[in-house]
Amino acid sequence: MKTYHHIDSLRETLNRERAAGKRIGFVPTMGNLHDAHLELVKLARETNDIVVCSIFVNGLQFGLNEDWDKYPRTLMEDSQKLQGVGCDYLFNPDDNEMYPNGLDTQSRVICPTMTDVLCGASRPGHFEGVTTVVTKLFNIVQPHEAVFGIKDFQQLAVIRRMVEDLCMGIQITAAPIHREIDGLAMSSRNGFITEEERPKVSQLNKSLNWVKDHIEAGRRDFGDLGDEARQQIEDAGFRVDYFSVCNSKTLAPAADDDRNITILGAMFTAGARLIDNVSTNLTEGE
Ligand code: PAJ
Repeated sequence: MKTYHHIDSLRETLNRERAAGKRIGFVPTMGNLHDAHLELVKLARETNDIVVCSIFVNGLQFGLNEDWDKYPRTLMEDSQKLQGVGCDYLFNPDDNEMYPNGLDTQSRVICPTMTDVLCGASRPGHFEGVTTVVTKLFNIVQPHEAVFGIKDFQQLAVIRRMVEDLCMGIQITAAPIHREIDGLAMSSRNGFITEEERPKVSQLNKSLNWVKDHIEAGRRDFGDLGDEARQQIEDAGFRVDYFSVCNSKTLAPAADDDRNITILGAMFTAGARLIDNVSTNLTEGE
């Protein structure tokens, strides 16, 4: 695997690959890679000749009081892991390479409405930072396909919408959520969970599934279900950021006759904010 820190040299290489007719798959990340990230790379490997992964802890998507400075940076270990799953090129730019004019005057990509709810409500500006950096990375790599995890369901939905709205012509592939045995979704932020909290944090996933089961059994009182789930999570000792039953495509609150429903939740532990979601596709009569 070859590592590039500069846009120009990566471009030169990828132009050559593209001219040789190679199909390019891309996996953007912020590093501190765990098995879930590696599954994304393996998925990209299956349908592409060349796989590019990026590691960049994007300051533009972190709020002022968020954990940009303490976000774990583990490049050596990450490189070895990527090599192990057959990644061809790693792009690891620094802040100056990505934002030479600084953050304040950086041109931005805005995807309205969908980014104001759920994670966007408690993290103002977050998705603007994501759509902007992903656009920049797409322009640099110019992949045929890019892989994103369903764990960040809202991010995936926003990126799909951005690609459609701005005619980017990149195939977006969704990778299933990779979980620990007790259901906790893998995340770089799981390292901030204390030993005492660890046995209880899977409550978020349990409550999401509890709501899903009730919806599949025919309940449509989404508000009441959400309230009960919130209570379960609070009883386990965590503060709930949001818990919402949504239309899978628009992320608007689900309507009684919606067939594709996603239940999304976020909660705070002492040192981290954890997110998770589950989806259900109801067939007629369910
Ligand atoms: P990061 O949090 O590093 O995640 C990189 C990719 O890994 C995302 O597509 C995310 O959804 C996926 N991922 C993380 N944990 C996962 C899990 N348990 N199961 C499945 N997929 C998982 O998301 C970002 O970085 C950034 O916002 C980025 C898109 C790179 C833009 O800066």
